[in-house]
Amino acid sequence: MRIHLKVWRQAGPDKPGRLVDYTAADVSAEMSFLEMLDVVNEGLIARGEDPIAFDSDCREGICGTCGFMISGIPHGPDPGTTVCQLHMRRFKDGDTLTLEPWRARAFPVVKDLVVDRSAFDRIIQAGGYTSFNTGGAQDANSILVAKTTVDAAMDSASCIACGACVAACKNASAALFTSAKISHLSLLPQGQVERYRRVVKMVERHDDEGFGSCSNEGECEAVCPKEIRITDIARMNREYFKAMLVKRD
Ligand code: SF4
Ligand code: FES
Repeated sequence: MRIHLKVWRQAGPDKPGRLVDYTAADVSAEMSFLEMLDVVNEGLIARGEDPIAFDSDCREGICGTCGFMISGIPHGPDPGTTVCQLHMRRFKDGDTLTLEPWRARAFPVVKDLVVDRSAFDRIIQAGGYTSFNTGGAQDANSILVAKTTVDAAMDSASCIACGACVAACKNASAALFTSAKISHLSLLPQGQVERYRRVVKMVERHDDEGFGSCSNEGECEAVCPKEIRITDIARMNREYFKAMLVKRD
């Protein structure tokens, strides 16, 4: 296959960027999308040019490091799929694809397709943890949790902090990410001690980082590679409301 690429090239955070045309020749249908970019980069390096910067680590959909826009869709056209899990068999010979970084004020571009997602780390630092002296590991059967609750907490905990939800949202809201992190702790007994402090601190941090408010568009849910549901956002809003009542009392 021959794939035409229009890639956002930006040398640094304060440098102007532009779309640059490349052609990926001899692309195998079995290649992953990132392997195709690796081959393009080998060609650029061989010609003495700067390779296209993009993030990746696990390349199996679990670390959340990769992610950019492919023709306007975060992580590309396959639902429930990170860009590292996307394969070239999804595309046709002669296709033209536009690759751009996440676009959000809270995710400044570092270089080309790489953005700074440390705002997510700061939201977690604000409250996405439990703090107590654990001592020795408890017998797993000593804290009974209903199966439906465990399943819901696990679903929320599967968020990999990739940032696609922010990129898809017209408000650049990180409500889906923040609510997933709040949900998986607020659902479990271990997360109860700091439950209301947590939601207030994390929501405040979210806003302070420059993410927008959720206006219930659902774009985040549509592109999330881990299929986190916007019911988590509803849960976060309920938790925040309850926290306000607890504070008032
Ligand atoms: S909620 Fe989904 S899209 Fe958003 S950061 Fe988590 S895994 Fe990525
Ligand atoms: S590289 Fe880890 S999720 Fe894509």
